[in-house]
Amino acid sequence: MNPPPKLDLARLPTPLQPLDRLSDALGGPRIWIKRDDLTEAAGAGNKIRKLEFVLADAINQGATALITSGGLQSNHCRATALFAAQLGLQCHLILRGSEARTANGNLLLNQLLGANIDYVSDQAFEQLDALYARKAAQLSAFGERPYQIPIGASDELGLWGYIQAVKELAADFASARIQPSCIVTAVGSGGTYAGLLLGQALYNLTLPVTGICVSRNAAFFERKAAMDTARWQKRFQSSLNPELGLLRDDFIGDGYGLASPEVYRLIAWLAQLEGIILDPVYTGKAFQGLVQMIQHGDIEGTDVVFLHTGGLLGLFPQMSQQILSELLE
Ligand SMILES: Cc1ncc(COP(=O)(O)O)c(C=O)c1O
Repeated sequence: MNPPPKLDLARLPTPLQPLDRLSDALGGPRIWIKRDDLTEAAGAGNKIRKLEFVLADAINQGATALITSGGLQSNHCRATALFAAQLGLQCHLILRGSEARTANGNLLLNQLLGANIDYVSDQAFEQLDALYARKAAQLSAFGERPYQIPIGASDELGLWGYIQAVKELAADFASARIQPSCIVTAVGSGGTYAGLLLGQALYNLTLPVTGICVSRNAAFFERKAAMDTARWQKRFQSSLNPELGLLRDDFIGDGYGLASPEVYRLIAWLAQLEGIILDPVYTGKAFQGLVQMIQHGDIEGTDVVFLHTGGLLGLFPQMSQQILSELLE
């Protein structure tokens, strides 16, 4: 099956690197990190792989304005704002939360990039479809051609980002001469996880996926992955049936965007041990999951892959001086 057309926005392939000091410290399998935090500079992270396919479709349809949505510090919204500017498109963001007096992190970049932002309450955000429809109607009335991108670009086209990443991983494993027993990734809107599972079925790679949920529970993402996969199968007329992955929802902590002191401690530990920077919203929680699985002997085999999905800009609004001082005491 041929993938749909894509734009070349990401710096690919991203490196696959061994983290030997971390592996020694944990005493389990050799840990490899897939550096999808290096897909770009300001646009970095997992979202670009998805946006390459989604934005190709937007351009193909003659879109002049992109509409997407997410949390106040959404990495996906920031990446969309960046590529909208690169492609000469308008960007309209529907963000859950209220306008901050001083913007920081992703929000600051959104403003710098000239994105139009609607700040909406948690309650209003529940009617997201209506918010998209209203924005699209407003833009059409002004003669624009709006293109709607769901949260996290996790639609049938976006799934292709991580389907194709599996092909890249297979080449990485061949050159490193490894056969990892598992890949661990954060799960926020589910597209990376579902894409990895579909990609394995398409490219015949056996690589059990463990998704660490950072917001909703495992049952929610099981349903979401099944729904996304069914839509993908329908759109691309495929009977490809992915294996089930493993979803863990015991690292969500107090909720989306709320990391425990342990997550911050692990972020500081990895920063100092390996010079790898994680964020408290996604990759920090996924890393906590990886560490605990290794400590509990849950990962068999000699090699495991941690997918670094980016998120650096989400660190800055969260990491207060107080947290940092406590960590460095
Ligand atoms: C840095 C980062 N990592 C992981 C994820 C999760 O990816 P997905 O939305 O495909 O589940 C996201 C977005 O939700 C993200 O911004």
